[in-house]
Amino acid sequence: MTTAKTLTILGIETSCDETAAAVVRRVVDDAGQIRGEILSNAIFSQIKEHAPFGGVVPEIAARAHVEHLDGLIARAMRDAGTEWDDLDAIAVTSGPGLIGGVIVGLMTAKGLALARGLPLIAVNHLEGHALTARLTNNVAFPYLLLLVSGGHSQLLIVEAVGKYRRLGTTIDDAVGEAFDKVAKLLNLGFPGGPAVEKIARSGNPTRFTLPRPLIGKAGCDFSFSGLKTAVRQLTAAQKNLDDQTKADIAAAFQTAVGDVIADRVAHAIEMTNEILNQTSGRLVVAGGVAANLALKARLEKTASENNYELIVPPPKLCTDNGAMIAWAGAEKFALGQKSDLNVSPLARWPLDPSKPARGN
Ligand code: KG4
Ligand code: ZN
Repeated sequence: MTTAKTLTILGIETSCDETAAAVVRRVVDDAGQIRGEILSNAIFSQIKEHAPFGGVVPEIAARAHVEHLDGLIARAMRDAGTEWDDLDAIAVTSGPGLIGGVIVGLMTAKGLALARGLPLIAVNHLEGHALTARLTNNVAFPYLLLLVSGGHSQLLIVEAVGKYRRLGTTIDDAVGEAFDKVAKLLNLGFPGGPAVEKIARSGNPTRFTLPRPLIGKAGCDFSFSGLKTAVRQLTAAQKNLDDQTKADIAAAFQTAVGDVIADRVAHAIEMTNEILNQTSGRLVVAGGVAANLALKARLEKTASENNYELIVPPPKLCTDNGAMIAWAGAEKFALGQKSDLNVSPLARWPLDPSKPARGN
């Protein structure tokens, strides 16, 4: 346990298609209250590089990280007005993710840590998402976390730093992946989530009926591949895929996703109440899909029906960023945790070690 009142941490994130670096401060005030301050948050989104392929190409992502990472770190330090001597440690995503990108970030962080004599903190990318609400909203442990991104769909109880109990995960596709695939089927471009949400606003969600996989089933696992296949068949069956039809399909899809997630979350709340012996609590949503306003409204209802407070960090901190890695690093470092310089990058790394990395 470190006794330092203030920790200043550089965070580096390169596990998918965002190259990101940020400087975050963890402050303990005189009353013992902990708060986070984001001093800088530099992000380079590789969307343009991947758009022609309709999805993230790992090799292109790794090369783009190599090109942009050093410049972003310099910008994060400059924007924060931080000197290297002001830093207490360097935090970096060491998995799970696209291994080429993870290696770029981890090797850069190791080099900097060695050259500057700073401790290195290897952070699980999912832990970054899981702890963001503590940085943005000062949320106390424990809470139920819905993590919905391009690579992950999970429900976990966040009990403490490093203590995560996975209640459910996807048995096939991640929800963001399903949004991206539907956008591709409807020719809406990449990334698909925001595009589907936009056209769904002018769509009629009841014109088409789509399946709601696993609704009503025990537990809180997810499945989206059947829904995606149904959208493919529905799209192929349309003689005229005009803008209104596309909007109606997008609205039907988004509503089906909302129904599935609301059902799974309601089950997860029941499980959480039983495990923690409580009748009310907090539901935190993280990951890129948390930016979806229709889903947020849906979850607002599920949360309030169950006596839960819904907490959704701002969209910029829900999608991949360096601040979440810096913050997770600060939380770990405050508990005396750091990594050896020989720490390995991991493509798969479940947050709950008792559960396999299935589906992430
Ligand atoms: O967390 P994130 O930035 O990266 C991963 O770790 O995957 O999430 C990106 C995912 C993409 O699949 C994207 O389509 C989805 O989040 N997404 C959305 C929205 N904004 C981003 N999905 C639905 N509605 C949105 N508004
Ligand atoms: Zn992510």
